[in-house]
Amino acid sequence: MTEQRAPETPEGGNAPDAPIKQRKNGLYQGVSEELAANMQSGWADTELRDLAPIEQAPNAARRRAALSARFPGERLVIPAGNLKTRSNDTEYAFRASTEYAYLTGDQTQDAVLVLEPTSDGHEATAYLLPRSDRENGEFWLDGQGELWVGRRHSLSEGEQLLGLPCSDVREVADALAALDGPVRIVRGHDAGLEEALADKLDAERDEELRVFLSELRLVKDAFEIGELQKAVDSTVRGFEDVVRVLDRAEATSERYIEGTFFLRARVEGNDIGYGSICAAGPHATTLHWVRNDGPVRSGELLLLDAGVETHSLYTADVTRTLPINGRFTELQRRIYDAVYEAQEAGIAAVRPGAKFRDFHDAAQRVLAEKLVEWGLLDGPVERVLELGLQRRWTLHGTGHMLGMDVHDCAVARTESYVDGVLEPGMCLTVEPGLYFQADDLTVPEEYRGIGIRIEDDILVTEDGNHNLSAALPRAADEVESWMARLRG
Ligand code: GLY
Ligand code: MN
Ligand code: MN
Repeated sequence: MTEQRAPETPEGGNAPDAPIKQRKNGLYQGVSEELAANMQSGWADTELRDLAPIEQAPNAARRRAALSARFPGERLVIPAGNLKTRSNDTEYAFRASTEYAYLTGDQTQDAVLVLEPTSDGHEATAYLLPRSDRENGEFWLDGQGELWVGRRHSLSEGEQLLGLPCSDVREVADALAALDGPVRIVRGHDAGLEEALADKLDAERDEELRVFLSELRLVKDAFEIGELQKAVDSTVRGFEDVVRVLDRAEATSERYIEGTFFLRARVEGNDIGYGSICAAGPHATTLHWVRNDGPVRSGELLLLDAGVETHSLYTADVTRTLPINGRFTELQRRIYDAVYEAQEAGIAAVRPGAKFRDFHDAAQRVLAEKLVEWGLLDGPVERVLELGLQRRWTLHGTGHMLGMDVHDCAVARTESYVDGVLEPGMCLTVEPGLYFQADDLTVPEEYRGIGIRIEDDILVTEDGNHNLSAALPRAADEVESWMARLRG
């Protein structure tokens, strides 16, 4: 019997009425009409009915209302983003854009949220890729068909879950392009859509949208705070996992630590919120050491900066600096205690009404005092602070907003963030450090190669602050006894 080939197929056709498209990887040499017809039928109806809305649906609706109020009469487009190629036909894991997930609670790849202006606000629609079509074979012949990548929600299921109308995303570019009037889009997530709407877009106006959404996230609601606590709780367990396997890390490399924390992040959450920094020995002086391919040696310190990202995409950002053999040396402890004291001063400066810069200034003052006390800098401390001389060893700012992005609200205006005032519901890190590079000839030899950072996630409350990561010991003695307990 001669196999008949399926009709010739156009590249990339994803339209509902596109003819059968073969996998490009050669898995299928051809599809007979009989097989194509056979695959069209015999499938059960799996439509899900009476689905409860996702927990954050009301929160997302409130955020959309705030967005609507800021841009009355304007068409707003917030894409979730597309897959990115890693190599040939493999892709990076998809992570929806923060803006889209924040405004919908959804994380579907290729999706687009559109706010269409109406006489009294906006009508929001989530444009999503619907279930794969069985008639045209895309469900099994297209690389993004459900048979290959898993079942998706139908548009009707999406409406029940998200609490807003859902439409077919394959029509959104043409539909928006056909409408008159300007559009604002969050750039950087969906190049195809930006191209389709190019003649309606303006870079400055789009940036205003992005900045507004960044600022909207400065104060977290109750759902977000709960998610941040979950992220931190999983992170605490991830740090405990690492302590339990330090001997195996010594026998291998920093990668054992990275892999151990990653396991916890994937089992309990969506992912890690950023590349884990598993920096043993002198690597601890490299601020973003993510190669994690070095040795782990008894007698040295491990700086572990890692955070679990929850399924709703909120991340923790926690650092502990641990003696690999469980006991700090005298010098390690002296430097550790200085950083701890600086962190205590920083945390104490976090309260509503305080300036964002206050906790940084408080921590820097303590570190400057210590550096003068140890004879590494000439005093007085005021002169050191005025000239910023301590920064040779403190290197970075003392903290940042935390949320769906580890460096959250990053494009908020200076006046509302860095020069702004703290409010209840803000969540930020307090993470002072001291780093003596291995080749720093200005410090005594025994200091060289020591890097210490302590980082906690601090929620601004009505009357001060609450340390979300307080379950993880910080004081040197407590760190030692916690490690001893975990290692039995
Ligand atoms: N983990 C990056 C940071 O602490 O900002
Ligand atoms: Mn960190
Ligand atoms: Mn941080």
